[in-house]
Amino acid sequence: MSPRPASPVVGIVPAGGSGERLGADRPKAFVVCAGRPLVEWSIEVLSAVCDRVIVAAPAGHLRPGWVEGGASRSASVRNALDDAPEARTVVVHDAARPLVTRQLVESCLGALLGVDGAIAAAPVSDTIKQAYPDGTVERTLDRSRLWAAQTPQVFRADALRRALDVEDDVLAAATDDASLVEAAGGSVRVVEAPPENFKVTSTSDLARAEALLC
Ligand code: CTP
Ligand code: MG
Repeated sequence: MSPRPASPVVGIVPAGGSGERLGADRPKAFVVCAGRPLVEWSIEVLSAVCDRVIVAAPAGHLRPGWVEGGASRSASVRNALDDAPEARTVVVHDAARPLVTRQLVESCLGALLGVDGAIAAAPVSDTIKQAYPDGTVERTLDRSRLWAAQTPQVFRADALRRALDVEDDVLAAATDDASLVEAAGGSVRVVEAPPENFKVTSTSDLARAEALLC
């Protein structure tokens, strides 16, 4: 058995986005998927593993114990973390990935030994080109070492706090929290995620998630 990470373990669910690409009548995290708001699937899984779960939600969707989301995804994470000074380990998981499993969260927690962060990620199966703005290919990257970063992302709380202590424009430019931890000099490890852990972005993703969750 892998050693348990430091307690308390606090779960953070960023759910403060508007869901522009999904284009529903409400924020994406609150769109019903397989009978319940999308965010509920992630809350259920994190609640089984964490001592406490904090959701960062849009102002009109707050519940007791939740915090208001920020202007960017990582600002939402920071708002939630500011509300959890007791946290020693943090599990961040987007409301937009309802097919997360307890096993995947536990694999990430188990991988936290000796590093600042451990993140779910998928090996890249396409060949990846780096191109100039005009479309001319500059080079082909070595696919065998490339991973598509997902959530859950688990961190030592002090490393995440330090990483999020940056200007709002730096937070806004970050597409995940691990990149901020890396930029702050922290060490991060990838944990292979199953294909089901995809992100709901479009209506076809929502239909696929619904079919798998029913
Ligand atoms: N998120 C957040 N606060 C923000 C922006 C995003 O908590 N200011 C959350 C979303 O609610 C989502 C996760 O971050 O659970 C990943 O973001 P994304 O999939 O981009 O969701 P949205 O920003 O809501 O969607 P879109 O970009 O299409 O508007
Ligand atoms: Mg977004």
